[in-house]
Amino acid sequence: MLRFTVNNQPVEYRLDPATPLLWALRDASNLTGTKYGCGTGQCGACTVDIDGQARRSCRVPIGTIEGAYVTTIEGLSRERNHPLQLAFLAEAVPQCGFCIPGMIMAASVLLKRNADPSEAQIREAMTNLCRCGVYPRLVEAIQRAGRATRGEEV
Ligand code: FES
Repeated sequence: MLRFTVNNQPVEYRLDPATPLLWALRDASNLTGTKYGCGTGQCGACTVDIDGQARRSCRVPIGTIEGAYVTTIEGLSRERNHPLQLAFLAEAVPQCGFCIPGMIMAASVLLKRNADPSEAQIREAMTNLCRCGVYPRLVEAIQRAGRATRGEEV
C-alpha cells in the first residue's frame, strides 16, 4: 500500500508501484481534472504539483513518490476562485479547455516561486502544449494572476 496526501487528504493506493500517478488520480481517486494527452511527458496536460514541483503525472510512477504532497486542479481552490482561474477567465484563455488544468497547475508552481514573472520567464516555465494556440493570452493571464497575488490592481 502506498500513502500520499492528495489535495490535503490522506490517500492510500493499492496499486502496482509502477502505475503512473495520472492513472491513480483519475481512476482510483476520480480526480479527472488532470488530463491524459500524450502519455509521454511532452504535452503537460497531466501536470500536477508534487511537493512544490510541476510534474507530468503520466511519467511519475506512484512507487517513486510515496509520502508526497500532491495537488491537482481540484485542490487548487475549492471555490474555483484562485487568482489563476479568475485570470484565465478574464483573459479568455480556454478555447477547447483540455490543456487548461495542466497549464494552471504549472503556472501555480511558477507564481509560488516568482509572483512577478517576465514574459520570458513565463515562456521558459510554461512548456505545456496547447493545440488551440492560446499562448499570447496565457502570458497575459499569468501576469494578471501575478498582479492579483501581489495585491495589485488587475
Ligand atoms: Fe502527460 Fe502529455 S499526458 S505530458
